[in-house]
Amino acid sequence: MTTENRSDARSERPTPTGGRLLAVSDLHISYQENRDLVEKLRPSHPGDWLLVAGDVAELTTSIEWALGLLAERFARVVWVPGNHELWTHPEDPVQLRGVARYEHLVERLRRLGVVTPEDPFPLWEGPGGPVRIAPLFLLYDYSFHAPGTTTKEASLAAAYESGIVCADERMLHPDPFPDRDSWCRERVRLTEKRLAACDPDVPLVLVNHYPLVRQPTDILWYPEFAQWCGTELTADWHTRFNTAAMIYGHLHIPRLTTYDGVPFTEVSLGYPREWRKRGLPDPLLREVFPQATG
Ligand SMILES: [Fe+2]
Ligand SMILES: [Fe+2]
Repeated sequence: MTTENRSDARSERPTPTGGRLLAVSDLHISYQENRDLVEKLRPSHPGDWLLVAGDVAELTTSIEWALGLLAERFARVVWVPGNHELWTHPEDPVQLRGVARYEHLVERLRRLGVVTPEDPFPLWEGPGGPVRIAPLFLLYDYSFHAPGTTTKEASLAAAYESGIVCADERMLHPDPFPDRDSWCRERVRLTEKRLAACDPDVPLVLVNHYPLVRQPTDILWYPEFAQWCGTELTADWHTRFNTAAMIYGHLHIPRLTTYDGVPFTEVSLGYPREWRKRGLPDPLLREVFPQATG
């Protein structure tokens, strides 16, 4: 089978009944220990789906390797980009920037049978279903201001002063947008339209690299970092849209919290130095619906 027709073959494959809706993020496989963990990830049921909420890796070959492997093993893999996938890393032979890099990744991953934010939102009809899985790519707009600041400029200045500056400032290029917040606003506009067009009677599982609300960032060790973690523009989406669960990563603080009755689950693995200290998330693949696990 060629890679070009793999996704077609997948959609023709009958979906086994049963199975679980699983999620993970921040696999960061440029670390060998994390790559070893990914090599061992397997479904426990032929009907298992896996939602991957960003930060797989920085290099395109690594991103494709990991998601290709998972797409061969799981009944369906759904991916959203993290900031690390969007970096134009100096070691990556693919030197595309911004929107062009994102579109390149979408095209490559589609060939592997992976569902991206640019595809129709798939319907989970396993246990607890039907729920619609909505992979979102929303980015951030610096509106989670640093303490004591009320504008993007002041917030960024506070971050530079404290030395807590996200590497995105060097490597996540917004081309052709003038800045990352403009790109974010456009993504929010497009995504809001798509969610509004969904059948309101079918609950949604929203998957995004960043939480849709600010509260999960309140426990960050460095509060200045919150400005690279989402946007105030999505603060009411979990109540405006019929949301069964919200899945995110990025903060590297795996946990379950509830806002307005909606479970928000951070499903990150994180860097080896982080999980070595606190232990691996157990289980690493979180069942996110129908039963969120803390
Ligand atoms: Fe990460
Ligand atoms: Fe991230």
